[in-house]
Amino acid sequence: MPTTMLPTIIVLGLFACPGAAQCTRALLTAATDSLLAAQTDGAPDTLGTAAGLTYLEQFKPADFTTGILSIAVHVDFNRSLHDTMQCATYTEIIAARNTTHPYVIGAQMHIGADDGQIANISTLVTDAGDWLFNATGTLYWASREKWEPIPEDRRDSRAVIQAAADAYADLFDDKTVVVPWGSPCARLEGGSYTGSGAASDRCDVGIPDGIF
Ligand SMILES: *[C@@H]1O[C@H](CO)[C@@H](O)[C@H](O)[C@H]1NC(C)=O
Ligand SMILES: *[C@@H]1O[C@H](CO)[C@@H](O)[C@H](O)[C@H]1NC(C)=O
Ligand SMILES: *[C@@H]1O[C@H](CO)[C@@H](O)[C@H](O)[C@H]1NC(C)=O
Ligand SMILES: *[C@@H]1O[C@H](CO)[C@@H](O)[C@H](O)[C@H]1NC(C)=O
Repeated sequence: MPTTMLPTIIVLGLFACPGAAQCTRALLTAATDSLLAAQTDGAPDTLGTAAGLTYLEQFKPADFTTGILSIAVHVDFNRSLHDTMQCATYTEIIAARNTTHPYVIGAQMHIGADDGQIANISTLVTDAGDWLFNATGTLYWASREKWEPIPEDRRDSRAVIQAAADAYADLFDDKTVVVPWGSPCARLEGGSYTGSGAASDRCDVGIPDGIF
């Protein structure tokens, strides 16, 4: 099986412009809460999905009823992004303490603005053997990151943030892509952290071959 990578930060748009919102934050938060509950219980049928749900796992069409959601996974840490403009969510699930089978799971969902039901889910499941996989390390570092709201006058535009996130993802295919890394900067890749807390921490430390 090819090595998969699960970037910690997938920006769907953190800075919704109220005039253009398609969905309420409350609707999206309810959807990510129900995803976490379904994953915890191993009960995909509790999710409240639309009849024609499209379900992908590892970017391939998969059976929703027998996929990762059918396995009861104890969630040690989770973080979700709620994009009211695209009516979409992204949830990171870290399950590290069950040493029998640790997982780090990323799930993107699109919600129907008209019916409020989950229209599609695309899940990337990472586990033993994937690039830098170490759920204990991911749990350690991810739970220490602070994701507080950025004061409004210091926010970049949605377009600027999306371009930065796209550049980071594109870098894995094309090493000539220029990513607008910040300074200082730290990357969490799998369970490995590139930073040491120093002002000189950098993110332009390279990308290995063969990761996607
Ligand atoms: C997800 O994280 C939130 C805190 O951000 C926590 O309150 C909630 O209990 C977590 N959910 C699960 C299923 O662990
Ligand atoms: C730990 O994970 C294994 C494999 O997924 C599962 O069978 C078992 O029920 C889990 N244990 C707990 C306490 O969740
Ligand atoms: C999910 O729905 C969105 C919005 O309709 C669409 O852009 C996206 O391509 C769909 N993804 C999948 C995996 O079906
Ligand atoms: C996984 O991460 C933990 C916490 O950072 C670390 O103590 C451990 O040595 C790592 N395991 C491996 C195999 O790298």
